Amino acid sequence: MSKNEAIRQRDLAVLWHPTTQMKDHEWLSLLPVSSAQGVWLEDMEGKRYIDAISSWWVNLFGHTNRHISQAVSEQASRLEHVLLAGVTHEPVVRLAEKLVNITPAGLERVFFADSGASAVEISLKMSFHYWRNIGEEGRTRFVTLSNSYHGDTLGALSVGDAGLFKQAYEPLLMEPLVAPSPDCFALPREQWDAHASNKLSDLRKIFAQNEGEICAVIIEPLVQCAGGMRMYPPSYLTGLRALCDEYRVHLIADEIAVGFGRTGTMFACEQGGVSPDFMCISKGLTGGYLPMSAVMTSDKVYAAFYDEYTTLRGFLHSHSYTGNALACAAALATLELFEQRDVLADNRLLAQQMLEAISPLRDHEHIGDIRQTGMILAVEMVAQREPMIEYDWKQRRGMKVYEYAMAQGVLLRPIGNVVYFMPPYVVNSEEINLMAKAAMGGIDLATQG
Ligand SMILES: Cc1ncc(COP(=O)(O)O)c(C=O)c1O
Repeated sequence: MSKNEAIRQRDLAVLWHPTTQMKDHEWLSLLPVSSAQGVWLEDMEGKRYIDAISSWWVNLFGHTNRHISQAVSEQASRLEHVLLAGVTHEPVVRLAEKLVNITPAGLERVFFADSGASAVEISLKMSFHYWRNIGEEGRTRFVTLSNSYHGDTLGALSVGDAGLFKQAYEPLLMEPLVAPSPDCFALPREQWDAHASNKLSDLRKIFAQNEGEICAVIIEPLVQCAGGMRMYPPSYLTGLRALCDEYRVHLIADEIAVGFGRTGTMFACEQGGVSPDFMCISKGLTGGYLPMSAVMTSDKVYAAFYDEYTTLRGFLHSHSYTGNALACAAALATLELFEQRDVLADNRLLAQQMLEAISPLRDHEHIGDIRQTGMILAVEMVAQREPMIEYDWKQRRGMKVYEYAMAQGVLLRPIGNVVYFMPPYVVNSEEINLMAKAAMGGIDLATQG
C-alpha cells in the first residue's frame, strides 16, 4: 500500500473531518500533507499542490515562513502559554498595542479569543451586555444580512444566514432580523453603488420598525466569503455606519476572513472610511500559524463594563488559551512582514495577474459572473447566462472542479458553483498561471452536460 493510502486509511478509521459528509470519502480522496513551503503543499509521496485558498483563508505569507517559524520557535523556548486572567506578558501587550495602532481609529481595546466563531460570540455578548449596563434592557435583537456567515457555534450560527449549515439546528438558535444583502452578483460595476443604496433603504425600514430593540448589526465587510465570495461596494459600509449612528445600533464588522490586506486595504472597513463599534479578527492574524482571534472595541464600550465587581457589570467570559504567547509571537512576526515591504502594493499587481490569467473565462457560456476584490477572485458557474439560470447545488459541479484541479496539483475548494482564488500573498505569476489553468480546465469539464 502506498504511503498516501496508508495514512488515509488510518485517518478514516478515527477522524471526523470539518464541514464534511464523511461518506464522500468513499469516492473522494483525502490529501495527506506531510510538509509545506510557500504556496506549496507536499503529500507523503512527494507530489506538490498549490494552496490556492490559503488553507481556508488563514495563510498570508506562505507555509513554514522562515520569519514566523523562527519567532514561534524562539517564543516556545521562553514562554509557551500562561492564563491571561490576573496575568500578563510582553508579547500579548505588544500585540494589543500594535492592533490598536493599525485598526481604524476608535478601536482602543482588545479582547483575545481563539477562533473566529468565538470572536463573533464575544462581540454579540459584549454588545448585548453594553446596552444592559447602560439601562437599555429592551435591546435583545441582532440584525444580519442574507447570505452571511459568521461561524458554526450556536450564537455565530444564529446571526448567519447560511441555509445549509443552519437548517438542522434552527430550534436551538436565536432569531435574527435578516436584511437583504447588498451582494452585487452579476451586476456591472457602475450599478453597484445604486444597488447598495437600495439595500440600505431596506435596512433602514428594519431599524425603524424595531427601534430600541436592536443591539447590533453584524456584517462581513465587502465580501461575503462563505456565502460564495459575493461582493458589494464600500459605499454600503459608509451608509451603514451613518444608519447605525442615526438609530443608535452597534456595528459589528466581522473582518475574520477579509482582514489583513485581503481586500486591498489592511482592513476592509477602511475602504468605506468607517470604524465599527466591534471588529472581529482572526485567520490571517497569526499568518495562518496558530488559532487566535480578537474583538476590538472602543473605550466607550469598555467604560460601560468598568465598575465594582458586585454590580456584575464586568464581562465574565473566558477561553483557556486566551492571549496564547505562541500565537502572539506568530501574530507579531506576521505584522512585521507587513512592515518590511509594501505588501498591499505588491498584492495589487498579483490581483491584476489573477484577473488576466482567467480572462478567457469572460466568454465562457457557463460563467455567469467574474468578480474581484483585492486578493479574492471568484468566478461563478451557471447553467445559462441569458437569462441567468443557476445550477442546482445538488449537482455538485464545484466538486468536479475540485477533483480535476487536484489531479493538476492545485488545491481549490469551490463553494457550490463558485470557483475562487484566495492565495497566500507570496504566490508568483507562474503559480497564478498554474492555478488559472487548473481552474479553467476544471470548469470546462464540470460544465459539460
Ligand atoms: C466571516 C467569517 N466569520 C467567522 C468565521 C468563523 O471562523 P472560525 O472557523 O475560526 O470559527 C469565518 C470562517 O470562515 C468567516 O469567514
